[in-house]
Amino acid sequence: MSIHLGDIAPDFEQDSTIGRIRFHEWLGDSWGVLFSHPADFTPVCTTELGLTAKLKAEFEERNVKAIALSVDPVDSHQKWIADIEDTQHCVVGFPIIADPDRTVAELYDMIHPKALATLTVRSLFIIDPNKKVRLMITYPASCGRNFDEVLRVIDSLQLTDQHAVATPGNWKHGDDVVIVPSLQDPAEIAKRFPAGYNALRPYLRMTPQPK
Ligand code: BEZ
Repeated sequence: MSIHLGDIAPDFEQDSTIGRIRFHEWLGDSWGVLFSHPADFTPVCTTELGLTAKLKAEFEERNVKAIALSVDPVDSHQKWIADIEDTQHCVVGFPIIADPDRTVAELYDMIHPKALATLTVRSLFIIDPNKKVRLMITYPASCGRNFDEVLRVIDSLQLTDQHAVATPGNWKHGDDVVIVPSLQDPAEIAKRFPAGYNALRPYLRMTPQPK
């Protein structure tokens, strides 16, 4: 099944390291980061899950729940968690979904047979509180993801949901942003952006990040 930005994230019920999970119910009113990795007891995946564990406070601050997935079963995940905690010096405080029957992998198109025949690749989905898919990234097995980038995108999505702005390339929290081109009414712009803006071009209007 192919998924597009703006689609409702497919719901599922599956076993995990914290028991049976009904995905939408588990997400509740939170944002979600659902990410797959190829297999348990693999080096890059071990570092990725350790990083996610250490970013717990950052995820919580943004009202985000993280959840990992691979096609290995729960007992394997549980044994691997001990290794992750030992080698990465962290507590894995988020669930790992067991997907040995590939139910979720198929729903989210996480198996790319020309890259890895039967294992999930490194897919990652950001899902908003309305259960809409807001970001999808796919990395090869050989390259671990940058979880600071995941947080950066969440910051951008949460900011741009609230204000008529978009965030420029390499933007990070606190940097100037751009006023969306669709906003043209000068009175409305003055009301929304009391700090003013700098029009480098009529379509490129920089303004301080709204509070
Ligand atoms: C890893 O996580 O280290 C890995 C998994 C599958 C293929 C290559 C690397």
